[in-house]
Amino acid sequence: MCGIVGYIGHRDAYPVVLKGLQRLEYRGYDSAGIAIYDGEELKLCKTQGKVADLKEKLENTITTHGNVAIGHTRWATHGVPNDVNSHPHYSNSGDLVIIHNGIIENYDALKKELQTRGYTFKSDTDTEVLVNLIEDVILKENVKLGKAVQIALNQTIGAYAIAVYNKSKPDEIVVARLGSPLAIGVGEDEFFIASDASPFIEFTKNAIYLEDGEMAVIRRNKEVKVRKIQDDTLVDPYLQELQLNLEQIEKGGYDHFMLKEIHEQPTAIKDTYRGRMLPDEGLIRMAGVDDNLERIANAKRILIVACGTSWHAGLVAEYIFEELARIPVEVEYASEFRYRNPIISEKDVIIAISQSGETADTMAAIKLAKEKGAFAFGVCNVVGSSISRETNAGAYTHAGPEIGVASTKAFTTQITVLTLMALKLAKHNGTISNTDFRTYLQELELVPGKIEKALEADEHIKYISDIYKDARNCLYLGRGFNFPVALEGALKLKEISYIHAEGYPAAEMKHGPIALIDEEMPVVVIATKKGHYEKVVSNIQEIKSRKGKIIAIVTEGDTEVRELADHVIEVPETIEPLTPLVTTIPLQLLSYHIAVMLGKNVDQPRNLAKSVTVE
Ligand code: AGP
Repeated sequence: MCGIVGYIGHRDAYPVVLKGLQRLEYRGYDSAGIAIYDGEELKLCKTQGKVADLKEKLENTITTHGNVAIGHTRWATHGVPNDVNSHPHYSNSGDLVIIHNGIIENYDALKKELQTRGYTFKSDTDTEVLVNLIEDVILKENVKLGKAVQIALNQTIGAYAIAVYNKSKPDEIVVARLGSPLAIGVGEDEFFIASDASPFIEFTKNAIYLEDGEMAVIRRNKEVKVRKIQDDTLVDPYLQELQLNLEQIEKGGYDHFMLKEIHEQPTAIKDTYRGRMLPDEGLIRMAGVDDNLERIANAKRILIVACGTSWHAGLVAEYIFEELARIPVEVEYASEFRYRNPIISEKDVIIAISQSGETADTMAAIKLAKEKGAFAFGVCNVVGSSISRETNAGAYTHAGPEIGVASTKAFTTQITVLTLMALKLAKHNGTISNTDFRTYLQELELVPGKIEKALEADEHIKYISDIYKDARNCLYLGRGFNFPVALEGALKLKEISYIHAEGYPAAEMKHGPIALIDEEMPVVVIATKKGHYEKVVSNIQEIKSRKGKIIAIVTEGDTEVRELADHVIEVPETIEPLTPLVTTIPLQLLSYHIAVMLGKNVDQPRNLAKSVTVE
């Protein structure tokens, strides 16, 4: 997790790298640092805190002039977040400097070995070990930086995206990746390095995404030479044209990225189904499914693996796939799946859901399932991400960049893609009538408008947020398709407001959580019409008779729940399997407003990072 940025070329490197770090702060934000080469000297500044803290410290301590710089924003793994453990890290001689995203698992053994040869270490990090290992190789083998990086990396176990710079060879930066992303922006006589393309999008649309196990030597005004780390084979790099634009990665007038992304959902969902859904022809086109239709439609079982919000989308998908396509589905946390001995056959299809496409646990789960012969399908948002490349086929969500750490539009667009996929398989397998198929497509087309309508409750939700912002706990209940929405609502509240929240299937309340209910306990209940409405109404009665405070998400025009609940938030009606797409909106807004009112950092909640590339 951590973001890395670098620049070598003809412009002032500092503003490029600083801005790039700000854009990558979603990847980690407990400390930051930059090293700048001014033509004579290598200057370095780092600090615990955010990139804004770094800017203040740096501009007061060093000159920012220079055409080469590397920078880092950190999410601590080895060593607490403090100034010393922040990157970049110098080698013992002070000649080399490194930034690193990932974990060197065998760093302790390597460190001990280096210590026996006189190396000393200032920090507790694995990264400082790596930079000294590289220096040791240079000294022992008398090789150039590129070769030394290669030899050193072949001695490591773990994951990395690194950039290394040697001030005595000031015209090159060496980068490498294994398990953590790394993009090289290729401009006119200038090169950019970053964990994703957002730091260089205004400078160039051309990028090389290094593959796992590749490294590159980037020479000022010259070229990028890519090689395989393991066997030194030269690779012909693929220069990709980026589709991303600047507006997509800026706040566009909203106070927070999360709020912007909540409001982007109508458009994001349209972008997800655009070109795929052809209601007039009664068709769904999805290249990744079309090209493998028999394999997927004949799956004995679909296994969904994901983490966090993406896992919740997987739970919704389980209900939808089984309802429509009648294929058995199991949903697992990727982190659990990868470390047991799951029974997987060649007739299984594994669907990996990941906004970032970089989640380490999800990636490992795919690899395991593939090894056992399963067909892997990826549902990712980030184009060109590691998971999208590791899977046999896939479908992008096309939600546009999601920068707020709390996932919002990723969730609804994942559900949209998975609904399209389920419908397509249902049609192929004959488990849905033509009339129902068309009804689904027509209803899906209406969903963006219904979300717009749901967003109109914003002021009312703000009012409710003010009443409950000081609650210490909160319970979320839902049934059927809306049970995963209850889980998601609870996750949103806890991750950005730090209020303890639990999501439960409403009927499970009587098996334990009901003991928590008293007049202090707000209970958010998803009680939309259809499905298990009457049963949920009974659950609401049970809460009311124990004096719990009820905030109910209801279908427009509902009167029954209104009489029981302390507050109701209306959402437009849609067909039951699609209700998560609208019921989730008020829950996102509720957690957003509570977090803002509590003065929390909504876009960068404590201890979290957007892209979880460590296990
Ligand atoms: C949700 O708000 C979180 N940020 C988190 O649970 C996230 O969904 C999870 O880490 C999975 O990320 P991915 O979708 O990028 O794989």
